[in-house]
Amino acid sequence: MKTIFKSFSAIFLPVCALSLAACNQPATKTSTASTMTDSTSTATLPPAAGFEKTVDGKQAHFYILKNKNGIQAAITNYGAHLISIAVPDKAGKLTDVVIGFDNIDGYKKSMSAYYGATIGRYGNRIAKGHFVLDGRRYDLFINNKPNTLHGGKQGFNDVVWDAKQIDDHTIALTYLSKDMEEGYPGNLNCKVTYELTDDNAVKISYEATTDKTTVVNLTNHSYFNLNGIGGGTILDHTVELKAGNYTPVDTTLIPTGKIAPTAGTPFDFSKPTTIGSRINDNDEQLKNGKGYDHNFVLDKHDITTPVATVVGDKSGIKLEVFATEPGLQFYSGNFMNGGNTILGGKTDDHRTGFAMETQHFPDSPNQPQFPSTVLKPGETYKTVTIYKFSVEK
Ligand code: GLA
Repeated sequence: MKTIFKSFSAIFLPVCALSLAACNQPATKTSTASTMTDSTSTATLPPAAGFEKTVDGKQAHFYILKNKNGIQAAITNYGAHLISIAVPDKAGKLTDVVIGFDNIDGYKKSMSAYYGATIGRYGNRIAKGHFVLDGRRYDLFINNKPNTLHGGKQGFNDVVWDAKQIDDHTIALTYLSKDMEEGYPGNLNCKVTYELTDDNAVKISYEATTDKTTVVNLTNHSYFNLNGIGGGTILDHTVELKAGNYTPVDTTLIPTGKIAPTAGTPFDFSKPTTIGSRINDNDEQLKNGKGYDHNFVLDKHDITTPVATVVGDKSGIKLEVFATEPGLQFYSGNFMNGGNTILGGKTDDHRTGFAMETQHFPDSPNQPQFPSTVLKPGETYKTVTIYKFSVEK
């Protein structure tokens, strides 16, 4: 599936109008805390109060999505974060598998980790914080020396989005990133839709249009612990990743430009392998990443078959990731250091969460051999990521 669809302005304009209409709608919000319905449950959604705040003059809210199995997910329009989702483990106990906080301050304090965040305008790194587009150089804020990471100084994770809860399992969030915001050209109208489906999946659909040629790379930065958040390291989780190649990086995590085979390296997850079995190998790439923090080149990304499958060793909870994007950043929580108290009261200790960020490749604006992240006026950027939960049989 192509990730950037060309469309005529006849299609583009109504999409734009819809997004703007959504911005003006009063938000349907949930104002009470909610406890999971399962009797064996220990998972409780955080109270709404911590999210009912004004940030930079805009009102943030707390939203709950539900499906017919009694599963609930919590979302906030502050940074379009996925706060929490609790799914049954092999004993049927509802288990929160996404690292989150019970208030906005928790996200502000842990900002550099991007827990559960929607990332934009450009997910991942841009080397030395600049790129050239149509002959003009654009300079970005260097927030991850010597590079720009995940949108710059104030990315899409740190702004309040407009929200419209469409029904009890779907919410649409919109954000207009203004021309030259964070140094990027073009007014970018973005829409992120979260849907909690009846097969216990979180489906995240992204759309964006621009009025000037720009670059876009949107993703979600949820950290999962399939044994339950605060349930120890993720090193015994098994990972299967359908990626025959990956993009090796330099010591600042910028791709060298090579597309290298994973076969015969610690990056080969063609068969289910625990995260920890090779993470401390004497391997230059693992040293550069301080563990896994690499973009995998997906063999197929047509949203019909999982690109990655991860299983929690204690819980039996299985996460399948489906994607339309050509790359996936597998990050093993190497910078987590216990400095933040997460939902449930535990701390975010080293490697107690992992992220699977579907994306275009890092630094694509400077690496023309990579699939293009350029979006032009009249085109609609459209991508989908699905995080599906079940129990390993
Ligand atoms: C991304 C990066 C990592 C790290 C995390 C946030 O996944 O690739 O290097 O910066 O974000 O801590």
